[in-house]
Amino acid sequence: MLKGKNVLLAVTGSIAAYKSALIVRLLVKQGANVKVVMTKSAIDFIAPLTLSTLSKNPVFSEFTSSKEDGTWNNHVELGLWADMMLVAPATANSLSKMANGEADNFLMAVYLSAKCPVFIAPAMDLDMYKHPTTKENITKLTSFGNLIIYPESGELASGLEGEGRLAEPENIIEYLTNHLQSQQPLFGKKIVVSAGPTHEAIDPVRFIGNCSSGKMGFAIAQKASEMGATVTLVAGPVSLSTPNPSIQRVDVVSAEDMFQEITSLYSEVDVVIMAAAVADYTPVTISDKKIKKKEGDMSIELKRTKDILAYLGENKTNQILVGFALETDNEEENAKGKIKRKNLDFIILNSLQDKGAGFAGDTNKISIIDKNNKISKFELKSKLEVAEDILTHLSKALTIHE
Ligand code: CTP
Repeated sequence: MLKGKNVLLAVTGSIAAYKSALIVRLLVKQGANVKVVMTKSAIDFIAPLTLSTLSKNPVFSEFTSSKEDGTWNNHVELGLWADMMLVAPATANSLSKMANGEADNFLMAVYLSAKCPVFIAPAMDLDMYKHPTTKENITKLTSFGNLIIYPESGELASGLEGEGRLAEPENIIEYLTNHLQSQQPLFGKKIVVSAGPTHEAIDPVRFIGNCSSGKMGFAIAQKASEMGATVTLVAGPVSLSTPNPSIQRVDVVSAEDMFQEITSLYSEVDVVIMAAAVADYTPVTISDKKIKKKEGDMSIELKRTKDILAYLGENKTNQILVGFALETDNEEENAKGKIKRKNLDFIILNSLQDKGAGFAGDTNKISIIDKNNKISKFELKSKLEVAEDILTHLSKALTIHE
């Protein structure tokens, strides 16, 4: 979650400032770009050189770089650079200044310039932390929209035991990560995505299948998980690896297997996206021995499989249902018919007449038709970009739905 994020760490003058080195280390390890500002009193507790070496960026604590040449350190630019600002440790004195808008040092000027979310991790002795002024300052800071990473209990620098210790660096990073996760458009949503073909067995070595590669469904699962959803990927027989370890993958073979898996999950989920190319027919009987060839032709009797989407549509409670339609002619009318027949919220239409659309490749060209027949058309894009378009449409549909 922190990869590529600009994180501005503001260190104030507490003994816990030594932990800021670990915080920088952990942020850099997660792929964040880190810049550090310090108060002058923080420098008594940890050397700026330590933090500049770890963050690979200069550390600022004054409005000018050196008294001689008078180079100005631009606090506004630093504040605007940040995607998130973390004040850790935040002393009682700094909390008071932040709560009252006092910009009498460089760090405070940066804080007042920052437009990004600000996270504050207080650290002080237990009685200072309990003091009504401190409590009032924290309440005030929270009311401004700042997020407090509350101190932990334990042994304090004074030798006393109690609440006031800076939250452990690992817990601070976890807090930031959870916050970013919770801001994701699909956070808290449980989504089932089906992908790939199904194989309908004829005998132990033969099946009826189709050309679906599973790439579109896998791209949707990947993007949905990146956008914060909890994803279960029900995959037919494909040779693709799971794109993200947080995705729960269930492998199935036949249309019946897929029906069983998806219907068993249905009551618990918010969204089902059926990107799988489910077989419409399956052999009436499966020979348990390999069928030997004989003189003359042969025919295999087929029966209809269960239509998974139609079943989900009939048994819908509050779920959003998304189907796919791969058409060669009369595309929009056929797709609209499927929305009605299967009680869908929207359908993704691929036309086989479009170059670059469909099963095997890495690109797709889609239209999204919703249940009010509103059509949104998209350009030819990579399947990952198409997945993003579909999920952006979904997150809007979820907002209207709620
Ligand atoms: N689908 C399903 N269960 C099936 C068959 C299809 O859930 N047994 C889903 C697919 O995953 C897809 C949508 O239904 O989301 C496709 O609709 P469908 O009417 O089956 O389209 P086609 O298979 O293309 O069939 P046809 O055009 O022949 O009606």
